[in-house]
Amino acid sequence: MTNTTTSVRKIIQDLRSVYVPTPSYRKLETYFQSLLDQRRADMAAGLISHARGIVLVGQSGSGKTTAIRELIRQNRNLIEADPSQDICEFIGLQVPSPATMKFVGAATLRALGYPSSGDKQGPAIWDEVKIQLKLRQTCFLHLDEAQDLARYQTDKERQSVVNTLKSLMENSYWPTGLILSGMPDLKKIVNQDPQLARRLYPVEIGRLHAIREVEPVLDIVQKYADRAQVDTHSSVREPLFAQRLMHAADYEFGLMVELTVQALSKALISEGSEAPLRLQHYADVYFERSAAIDALNPFIAEDFARINPRQIFGYDGEGT
Ligand SMILES: Nc1ncnc2c1ncn2[C@@H]1O[C@H](COP(=O)(O)OP(=O)(O)OP(=O)(O)O)[C@@H](O)[C@H]1O
Ligand SMILES: [Mg+2]
Repeated sequence: MTNTTTSVRKIIQDLRSVYVPTPSYRKLETYFQSLLDQRRADMAAGLISHARGIVLVGQSGSGKTTAIRELIRQNRNLIEADPSQDICEFIGLQVPSPATMKFVGAATLRALGYPSSGDKQGPAIWDEVKIQLKLRQTCFLHLDEAQDLARYQTDKERQSVVNTLKSLMENSYWPTGLILSGMPDLKKIVNQDPQLARRLYPVEIGRLHAIREVEPVLDIVQKYADRAQVDTHSSVREPLFAQRLMHAADYEFGLMVELTVQALSKALISEGSEAPLRLQHYADVYFERSAAIDALNPFIAEDFARINPRQIFGYDGEGT
């Protein structure tokens, strides 16, 4: 292997920092801005009204976590989101497991930089959360992996967590808007509580369409290669390639981009910027990620549509 030069490393870093805006991202941003505007207007008028929030769903690898990160980055001039500062209008955390009242409350307090003492019970922890949210002027609380709110716990426990979260948006002391993101199971959790559903704007990151998205995918690959100043070989410019790539990404937008960034990194590291990006780079990346044999590699196999791209070691579900 050749030594990775500083310039190659810089290019790869740059590729990894790119965010490709999608229709679902634009929807997310529109909702977020309207919630923020409303909140600012209410505060300026000295009003306290109920907050609303957003629920963002998509499969693993669709790009939920990245979308929220981008949302904060894009809005960093409008909203204080640095947890090390006194005022922190946006706080994010991952739902802990099991997602009991106590655990979720303690994780929220920790994200607020205010760890609670271990012996407090759920309700007392949440009282502290509410005080901290007001002190820090937190108007948005983001819970990632929110589908886990339903895992490993009883219906009763889940309902009390959901009620507590709802009360964050409704309390007249300091309403905080919830941003929930998670896998599609999250839809069920939200829909089981009509009051919660009514207070959240829904955004779904849909899956890629094997035919409609051929051109857009080829376009994204080309744009990434242009950005890296690498040429593209004809093998990554044809419709069949786009279909292979989408299948390898299990039709998830984020995974499709991630594979592309990795394939370009591979091309740059192994051959420098003189050689073009080829199908083989994708096949190599897929192999490294999955340890799949060629017959189970969507970039190589003829009948790639039957491959399960989520399995590592190329297990195809039929015992092979
Ligand atoms: N719009 C985008 N532009 C560029 N890269 C993206 C975009 N969306 C997602 N990605 C990339 O896709 C990969 C998966 O994204 P992410 O981790 O956000 O998915 P997720 O939906 O949160 O998945 P999980 O449910 O497994 O947590 C990451 O490598 C991320 O950088
Ligand atoms: Mg995520």
